[in-house]
Amino acid sequence: MPRFSAETLPARLYRDPAVYEDERRRIFARSWQLIGHEAQLAEPGQWLALAIAGYPVIAVRGDDGIRAFHNVCRHRAGPLAPDGEGRCERNLVCGYHGWRYALDGRLASARDFGPAEGFDPREYALVPLACESWRGFVFVNMDAAAQPISSIIKPFAERARHMPLETFRPAQRMTHEIRCNWKTYVENYLEGYHVPIVHPALNAAIDASRYEIELHGDIVFHYAPPRLETPVSGLWAWMWPCLGINVYANGMSMERMWPVDHGRTRLDYLYFFPEGLPEAEKDAAIAASEITTAEDIAITQAVQRNLGAGIYDRGRLSPRHETAVALFQSRVTRTLEDSR
Ligand code: FES
Ligand SMILES: [Fe+2]
Repeated sequence: MPRFSAETLPARLYRDPAVYEDERRRIFARSWQLIGHEAQLAEPGQWLALAIAGYPVIAVRGDDGIRAFHNVCRHRAGPLAPDGEGRCERNLVCGYHGWRYALDGRLASARDFGPAEGFDPREYALVPLACESWRGFVFVNMDAAAQPISSIIKPFAERARHMPLETFRPAQRMTHEIRCNWKTYVENYLEGYHVPIVHPALNAAIDASRYEIELHGDIVFHYAPPRLETPVSGLWAWMWPCLGINVYANGMSMERMWPVDHGRTRLDYLYFFPEGLPEAEKDAAIAASEITTAEDIAITQAVQRNLGAGIYDRGRLSPRHETAVALFQSRVTRTLEDSR
């Protein structure tokens, strides 16, 4: 159990571009990040490209599995693919001068390069990332020394053991760009204290007075008993540093809260449903979640404005409701102080 830190982080940490640069290197380059689902990378040559806190990443299926690399050509930093999804033939081809890379990252050919003394293509392979799947979900980590995702996600895996996650298919993505620091959004996700005030519809569905938070290493669980048997009953969790995992009886959503810069967060909801679920049920689940999300966006943007205003510096956290916020904040502090 982490020490309960009753005081919040100073407001400066939510608005300083230099702090964000540190967070990119010390947090986002060293933690597991969900990039998608194996169903999006089913065939050799299928790729998925995106930016994680400004780090361009590409995952591609080769003949022997999925690998991930920085989406940066070793010639003069061109992109191997635009952000999105697609399929290539035998090679990833740089969009600048056409260098070709095998799907295992080796440089296969440097187009029309000419004789260059001391140029050994073996020294110009793509920069690899750790890439692992957990129950169909594909995660990457830029830290070669990272612990495996299976050990990080274990507390969640144990509780989700009997849930039919493999029957869920990627269905839809909803993206929101939010004018707040990524920590402002994560902290809002980590407490239910605001539910009765900010979320009237959700508050009607769950008994927020019995909202409980449980901390297990890199995983936080939320429990809130439903007032009736409603779709909100399920398993709600969060994984360090910024992934929400919400499993319901008939589907799930993964919620990525990735920074765009120090003052903006890109929220990606990835929805997964079992095959054959009626469209109306999917639409209803997404619509309910979008209502809650719109409420969270409005309040976190208002909070961010106030954090930037120079009035507030530090506040106090509730020992009853905000232990996960305290855990997150002390972890951020420790990670930023880590000299590694
Ligand atoms: S930058 Fe990729 S081929 Fe030139
Ligand atoms: Fe909320």
